[in-house]
Amino acid sequence: MHVLRRLVCGMCLRLNKHAGCVQTFSTSSSRPQSVMQAWVIDKYGDNSVLRFTRNAAFPVIHYPNEVTIRVHAAGLNPLDVNMRGGYGAATLAMKRDPLNMNKAGSEFPLILGRDVSGVVMECGLDVGYFKPGDEVWAAIPPWKQGSLAEFVVLSANEVSHKPKSLSHTDAVSLPYVAATTWSALVNTGGLNKDNCSKKRVLILGGSGGVGTFAIQLLKVWGAHVTVTCSKNAEQLVRGLGVDDVVDYTSGPVERKLRDLDKFDLVLDNIGGETEKWALTLLKPWSGAKYVTLVTPFLHNTDQLGLADGMMQTAVTVATKALKHLTKGVHYRWGFFAPSGSALDNVTEIVDTGKIRPVVEETFSFSQVPQAMQKVERGHARGKTVVTVAEEQDERP
Ligand SMILES: NC(=O)c1ccc[n+]([C@@H]2O[C@H](COP(=O)([O-])OP(=O)(O)OC[C@H]3O[C@@H](n4cnc5c(N)ncnc54)[C@H](OP(=O)(O)O)[C@@H]3O)[C@@H](O)[C@H]2O)c1
Repeated sequence: MHVLRRLVCGMCLRLNKHAGCVQTFSTSSSRPQSVMQAWVIDKYGDNSVLRFTRNAAFPVIHYPNEVTIRVHAAGLNPLDVNMRGGYGAATLAMKRDPLNMNKAGSEFPLILGRDVSGVVMECGLDVGYFKPGDEVWAAIPPWKQGSLAEFVVLSANEVSHKPKSLSHTDAVSLPYVAATTWSALVNTGGLNKDNCSKKRVLILGGSGGVGTFAIQLLKVWGAHVTVTCSKNAEQLVRGLGVDDVVDYTSGPVERKLRDLDKFDLVLDNIGGETEKWALTLLKPWSGAKYVTLVTPFLHNTDQLGLADGMMQTAVTVATKALKHLTKGVHYRWGFFAPSGSALDNVTEIVDTGKIRPVVEETFSFSQVPQAMQKVERGHARGKTVVTVAEEQDERP
């Protein structure tokens, strides 16, 4: 799919097909856009910093490989709640403004929302893989303006054609957790569709956004999957195909896990104390890996500044990796990575019906603060999503 992506682009570029679009265009209201409706924050803080506006700056294509997407639905993740409170601000500011030209706070008004499902409205001159009218989905990098808005601009290589079998509201529950899972399992963990059939995988935290997607992907690839979750999430994860479920709320979970056969890979969505015992559950000296999604990287740079924070992070990960290597297991950090081509693969699988979205609750665009509160309360059972385009009349 990745190769096809590039071939198609090359062909269209040579033919100059799909290329060249107008600078302004009409939306459903038939007026040229210079502003749009969005939920923004003007400073970091609790939920009260969320502000609805009809006058957010309309996002403009700056590079020839970018596309403008009309947002139909947006998805929320724990990261949105954390970013609302200022998490990662130092590193994200550096990504947005590497030469440090802008004054502090130039990221505001900031738009949250990492998942988008919508329709391509406009394409930069180099974009051949998409054309206006295409239904697409994407996971939005945290340094870019998010999807709690009418429109978003992304690089075409971050975008993918959305599964035809899903509505926008269902589709939007997947991109961020799918891109993260793909990055953690494939790029960091070395798993793929051809090498999973005899693998035993443990997912710590199977009932949330990442867990419910990772279970399904691993089952499509033929792995044996064990998850930890609360007792009341057992039915959900069993319905997604899990082989073994361990309730972490009734006694020390590590003791129950030690009674099981050892694992080839542990995906840790929980962090904290887990890494003190989770690596002992791996098969030693067999290439087995522990991949955690809960890392101190952004916390370190927030607390210590960029240079010291990155140094501290490098020392921490290298020390831990070395310590565990001497015991015959691999210790790794996993990160979200924006990737249209990873989502292309997910689209194919979803359209076969083998992965389904797990939407716990859907909110209207006027209910974004309630949706954020829901995510902040935790105990997710799948995903929280927001409909954007279909609900214009209900906005505040
Ligand atoms: N590094 C990265 O780039 C990256 C990317 C994406 C996500 N993440 C991180 O990965 C983690 C998971 O993300 P997510 O989107 O799946 O979060 P989520 O949707 O909030 O799900 C977390 C799930 O874990 C369950 N849980 C809580 N404590 C548990 C425990 N001790 N054992 C087993 N299950 C437990 C929760 O339900 P109950 O509390 O009811 O049990 C909930 O279902 C988050 O910390 C997120 O910040 C990191």
